[in-house]
Amino acid sequence: MHIAMIGTGYVGLVSGACFSDFGHDVVCVDKDAGKIERLLQGIMPIYEPGLDQLVASNVRAKRLSFTTDLASAVADADAVFIAVGTPSRRGDGHADLSYVYAAAKEIAAALKPGAVVVTKSTVPVGTGDEVERIIREERPELEAYVVSNPEFLREGAAIGDFKRPDRVVVGTEEEKAKEVMRAVYRPLYLNRSPILFTARRTSELIKYAANAFLATKITFINEIADLCEVVGADAQDVSRGIGLDNRIGAKFLHAGPGYGGSCFPKDTLALLKTADDNGTPLRVVEAVVQVNEARKRAMGRKVIKAMGGDVRGKSVAVLGLTFKPNTDDMRDAPSIAVIQALQDAGASVRAHDPEGIEQAKAVLKDVDFCDDPYVAAEGAHALVIVTEWDAYRALDLPRLKALLAEPVMVDLRNIYPPADIEKLGFGYTGVGRGAGGSAAELHQA
Ligand SMILES: NC(=O)c1ccc[n+]([C@@H]2O[C@H](COP(=O)([O-])OP(=O)(O)OC[C@H]3O[C@@H](n4cnc5c(N)ncnc54)[C@H](O)[C@@H]3O)[C@@H](O)[C@H]2O)c1
Repeated sequence: MHIAMIGTGYVGLVSGACFSDFGHDVVCVDKDAGKIERLLQGIMPIYEPGLDQLVASNVRAKRLSFTTDLASAVADADAVFIAVGTPSRRGDGHADLSYVYAAAKEIAAALKPGAVVVTKSTVPVGTGDEVERIIREERPELEAYVVSNPEFLREGAAIGDFKRPDRVVVGTEEEKAKEVMRAVYRPLYLNRSPILFTARRTSELIKYAANAFLATKITFINEIADLCEVVGADAQDVSRGIGLDNRIGAKFLHAGPGYGGSCFPKDTLALLKTADDNGTPLRVVEAVVQVNEARKRAMGRKVIKAMGGDVRGKSVAVLGLTFKPNTDDMRDAPSIAVIQALQDAGASVRAHDPEGIEQAKAVLKDVDFCDDPYVAAEGAHALVIVTEWDAYRALDLPRLKALLAEPVMVDLRNIYPPADIEKLGFGYTGVGRGAGGSAAELHQA
């Protein structure tokens, strides 16, 4: 199969590299000439584990190439994927579809007859209809199909997710388009990944419903964690106790500083807009968005309380800036609101992140960035873990205690058992640890 991937960001680059690894012939297109230039030199625009080797081996095998020339990439393609950004539109929270529609227009001019245009970007219900209209307007005589194929990969685990997905969703009712999509995803049949064919609008909504549901799970356990702190219960044990129920499942039930990232915040907002526009408000999702927004800044107040209530003139060491580990993505990371709240209260911030510092510099002001967690801790009045990178799971705690001006740890990801930290003479604050820490013992019947 010949595939053109329009947009070479997280999704386009990972999808393009994986499709080429399946044996397809893939051209990745981006209008950012600097990005393409760097990719041609083998330099990845993002941090994603394993991506550089995957790209290099498929470039060597001549199955994967990069260009800014959309027309030449599309002219040969059996399937053209749109993987451009759909950020929140400034002001109203709708998904900004201008990149998708601009790409559709450019693609239309170059498509070969019988080609399938596949929207992989996360787009509101009805976007496929508009993409189809744009293509028909440009090329009324052309036989072409527009399909929805949302992407569910997680940054940090993107290659594994793409190659062994829980499911692939394909939205089209056209038999010819289904045939092309089956050929594109045939290698996954060997991995026994289910492929769910639906109507196009249904497929578009599945992506938003999935993200809203996951955001709801996170927000639910975060509120339960707040209650745990007040009533003397442990949120991790509650999470375990409910997550062992197969109807609930253990994933996305870890209390923390609130969800962030490039998808959940903008996708929940866009879903609410679609719901409002259609006169069907989604009250649960509305509450999730409000609770999560308030929570990020509340985490700043939690740190201030752990430091005795007054942080003016004090220094705080923040470990972990990206919205989750194994990515350098800073989009809507909770660290931004936490650090802002600390700075607003008069604290200065020293911060470390294993991969995210370059991206963080663009969104955080007046932060002293350190290339080592122990350097960040020097002279700080508290150590705050915001993102649970592996590098923070086995810190040399006595060394940290000696470096800090005050032995205060705020662990917003609950990676340390409170008792272990307190034994070393630290003041410890976690999330939802009203009982002090886990007392759960699991015995098999
Ligand atoms: N990042 C994720 O984890 C993730 C997961 C699932 C779905 N998605 C969705 O996938 C889509 C892409 O997300 P992303 O994070 O990869 O975005 P991104 O911002 O990292 O990349 C988008 C790329 O598209 C390029 N682009 C824009 N218009 C173009 C055009 N006309 N021609 C060629 N290139 C063009 C941009 O230069 C940019 O490099 C979004 O809709 C997002 O919601 C993202």
